Amino acid sequence: MTSLLVPDNSLIEHEWSGPQLSFGLISNPKQPAQGPRNEAWRFYAAYSFEFVRDYLRNIAASQRDSLFLDPWNGSGSTTTAAWSQGFRAIGIDLNPAMNVIATARVAKSGDVDQAMDIVRSSVRMAAVRASVAPNDPLSTWFEKGTVGRIRAFERATVGRACECMTGNGAVSAVLYLVMFRVLRHFVGPFLTSNPTWIRMPKNAPEEEKVKVLWSDLRIAFAQAAEAVREDVMSVRSDHSQYGDVTPRLLHANAKQIPLAARSVDHVVSSPPYGTRIDYAVATAVECAALGIPFGTTFDQLRSQLTGTTKVPASAASIGAETVGEECFKFLQAVRSHPSRASGTYYLKNWETYFIDIAGSISEVSRVLKRNGTCTLIVQDSFYKDIRAPIQEIFVDICRQSGLLLLDRFDFPSKRNLAAINKGSRRWRAQSIATESVLRFVKL
Ligand SMILES: C[S@@+](CC[C@H](N)C(=O)[O-])C[C@H]1O[C@@H](n2cnc3c(N)ncnc32)[C@H](O)[C@@H]1O
Repeated sequence: MTSLLVPDNSLIEHEWSGPQLSFGLISNPKQPAQGPRNEAWRFYAAYSFEFVRDYLRNIAASQRDSLFLDPWNGSGSTTTAAWSQGFRAIGIDLNPAMNVIATARVAKSGDVDQAMDIVRSSVRMAAVRASVAPNDPLSTWFEKGTVGRIRAFERATVGRACECMTGNGAVSAVLYLVMFRVLRHFVGPFLTSNPTWIRMPKNAPEEEKVKVLWSDLRIAFAQAAEAVREDVMSVRSDHSQYGDVTPRLLHANAKQIPLAARSVDHVVSSPPYGTRIDYAVATAVECAALGIPFGTTFDQLRSQLTGTTKVPASAASIGAETVGEECFKFLQAVRSHPSRASGTYYLKNWETYFIDIAGSISEVSRVLKRNGTCTLIVQDSFYKDIRAPIQEIFVDICRQSGLLLLDRFDFPSKRNLAAINKGSRRWRAQSIATESVLRFVKL
């Protein structure tokens, strides 16, 4: 018997037949502010690879055939860590740019070598220039000649990789990772103090856009390729047990997980926190590299991603029965807050977020086996001066889907979006968030 802490803080007894776990050494999930490596896939909302690697080892040491799922897989820390420990893993993300990054991280050494050979031969090309489509999304930041040079490099590299395709797209993914890195370097003038935002001016004059000559671009591509190779291979040199089967990376919505009921042993994930990170804009440069046109297609992606700042006009209202008392109380406080648009846009924004989370958690519960575990890394946040008790709300939502809280570990986090947003100081002197590891069991 194990005691389970349930949301009203009472203890209930539950027959727990899963592995006995010791979490004395659980580490902070937050990425170190200055990561020495993994720059190629470093993005703001990622958790640390070391945290998830050690956690998976702990959770399933004696169950080598365990299948792990991350339904918000992002840059693929979970799937890479599971693979590095020899576990089967499935990662789901709705953002195609994140899937490319997650695919590149588990590329086989041979695929990485092949990608490097292709880059080496392509940067030897004399001046290059490809035709530029009138609505090429890269034109948002780069002048026409530069876009032509970048697309010529893409054709010479990814185009070649597709011709000699090995099957899983890993070579192309590594090549796109090289492109992502170079583009991120050059879009600097459009970055803002918010690490998840980039300015995307519509119809900026050509002279205000970034211009890079081929002589500089070819050096940047060669250097980026070397850095990407080191990043990808560094994961391998740290660990020894690679699964024969690379993770399955699916482009899908966590609200409709394309897996059979009771097919997954453990879910480990960091869902969107409700901190209004627009995951599409956060990866707008990468989406542009992949050719996703800005306008309707990109906007659709923006509105489908959970936690989006785009609120559908038809957003539904929710009652306590869907999301629990804590959430309902929080929404009431938002509704009656005196600041502008609290009872309209912001209320809809939060409601949409919680409805999305409740739908996704219900799916997580459906695909988990009985006694399977679900570990979520979540962070609380604020709306103006009101604390959004995300941990407590997740506990309620999970309980309604048949997932009971086993344990919770809290870590203070000074590095959070509220602390970056200067406007928040009007409402609060300090913005220290709590990041928590919540572990549930499926009944
Ligand atoms: C907090 S990040 C995950 C970070 C990840 N643990 C890592 O280390 O990179 C959340 C991810 O959820 C994805 N996402 C948001 N809404 C989604 C949805 N409805 N379905 C699937 N993925 C979604 C975003 O694209 C983002 O990559």
